[in-house]
Amino acid sequence: VSARSPWYVANWKMNLTPSAARVWCEALRAGLDRLQEPVPELGVAPPLIALDTVRQALRGSGVVIGAQNCHAEASGAFTGEVSAEMLADAACRFVLVGHSERRHLFGENDEEVGRKAAAAVRAGIEPLICVGEKEEQREAGQTPEVLSRQLDRALEYLLDLRSADLTLAYEPVWAIGTGRVADASQIEEAHAILRGKLVEIAGEKTARTTRILYGGSVTPQNAEKLAPIEGVDGFLIGGASLDAARFLQVACPRARC
Ligand code: 13P
Repeated sequence: VSARSPWYVANWKMNLTPSAARVWCEALRAGLDRLQEPVPELGVAPPLIALDTVRQALRGSGVVIGAQNCHAEASGAFTGEVSAEMLADAACRFVLVGHSERRHLFGENDEEVGRKAAAAVRAGIEPLICVGEKEEQREAGQTPEVLSRQLDRALEYLLDLRSADLTLAYEPVWAIGTGRVADASQIEEAHAILRGKLVEIAGEKTARTTRILYGGSVTPQNAEKLAPIEGVDGFLIGGASLDAARFLQVACPRARC
């Protein structure tokens, strides 16, 4: 029996103004109120500028709020950056680290990802560590080593791995924003690799309780097929999360929400 209940996380990326965020939250609340089944665990990572709007608009809804990135240091002369401590004080319960857009568009390397994950844990928020191979790496048969290396480095700076709360997201780079969702065997294999690696570096207990989400072109149309895949503990949703009703439909495909 899995100790892990599914978690559905909206990553808005650089979308939705604070006013649009308020409308989204109202729509989500209306959808949750209509739900005829238990409310699934939901998370939302808005742009920082909308964080407080979302916090107020979702108060009491049970939806947890997170951020899309943080700096590895707690404070200092880092113009334009925000630390994990600041996010914790602003009611964030999780933070994405190592999203492929951070790695590939902003040049974040494995070491920075590891330092950010450690900073999040120090600040008392859960790192949602994103890993995934590029298309050419998959074609060259390098997926297992890429995923193992990314996970290894991401956990390198965490001092007490056995008691850290963390979540992983497997997001194959070629499936992000492309409409090309990975197939069941690819997802199952990648999640098994990550879980095996977790056992090796963090121990059985942490591996058993750590959720591994899938991300990459998840929509209400494909969620029902993806959800039962062995090892999938929920989704990290980009494009389809920008509409509150579609986001909720991913989390509960059979509900009329
Ligand atoms: P899409 O759902 O738009 O493919 O984005 C996935 C993603 O990057 C979530 O973090």
